[in-house]
Amino acid sequence: MSATADMPYFINPSKNLSKKEKLEAYEIAELSINANLDQETHLIMKMSTINCILKTYLPYYYWVGFYMVHDGALVVGPYQGTLGCLHIDFSRGVCGKAAREQKTQLITDVHVLAQGKDHIACDPNSQSEIVLPVFDNDKNLIAVFDVDSSLKNSFDEVDQQFLERILKRHFEELPLSK
Ligand code: SME
Repeated sequence: MSATADMPYFINPSKNLSKKEKLEAYEIAELSINANLDQETHLIMKMSTINCILKTYLPYYYWVGFYMVHDGALVVGPYQGTLGCLHIDFSRGVCGKAAREQKTQLITDVHVLAQGKDHIACDPNSQSEIVLPVFDNDKNLIAVFDVDSSLKNSFDEVDQQFLERILKRHFEELPLSK
C-alpha cells in the first residue's frame, strides 16, 4: 500500500455514489456536455469542458483528464487534479494498456497491479481508475481519457457505458477540428 499524500487545498477526497445516485449524476452531466458541445468542434475546448462538467457532477472524480497520443507515446493533455505525469510510454501503466489494446481499462484497486509497470501512481492517493481510448472522426487513436478516485471500487459498468457514449459522440461522430 503506497503512502498517501496530503491533498492540496483545491482537491477534495473522493465520495462514492450509490448506483441510483451515479445514474442520476451521469444523466445530468451527459445532458450538460451535449448541450454545451454538440455545436462545437475544437478538440481542446471539448476535452477541457468534458473534464469540468464530469468533475462537477461526479464526486469520486479525484483526477480527470486526457493523455494525448504524440510521437508514439502519451503526453498529458487537458486535466483537472493534482500534478499528472507528463509522459507515459505505451508499454506502461493503465493508460499505456488502454492505448495499446484500444479498450477501456476498469481498475477497482490499482494496488493489485505491478506499480511502476502496470500502474503509474502520479498521485499516491489514487485507489481506483478507469481509462478509455479516444478516437477521432477517422477512427484513429488520438488520446486516452483517464479518471482516478481516491477510493477503491469507484468505477463500474455505468461509468464505462456513459463515458464510452460521451467520448464516441464528441470525438468520433461529431465534427472535430484540431
Ligand atoms: N495512473 C495512470 C497514470 C496517469 S495518473 O493517474 C494521472 C496509469 O497507470 O497509466
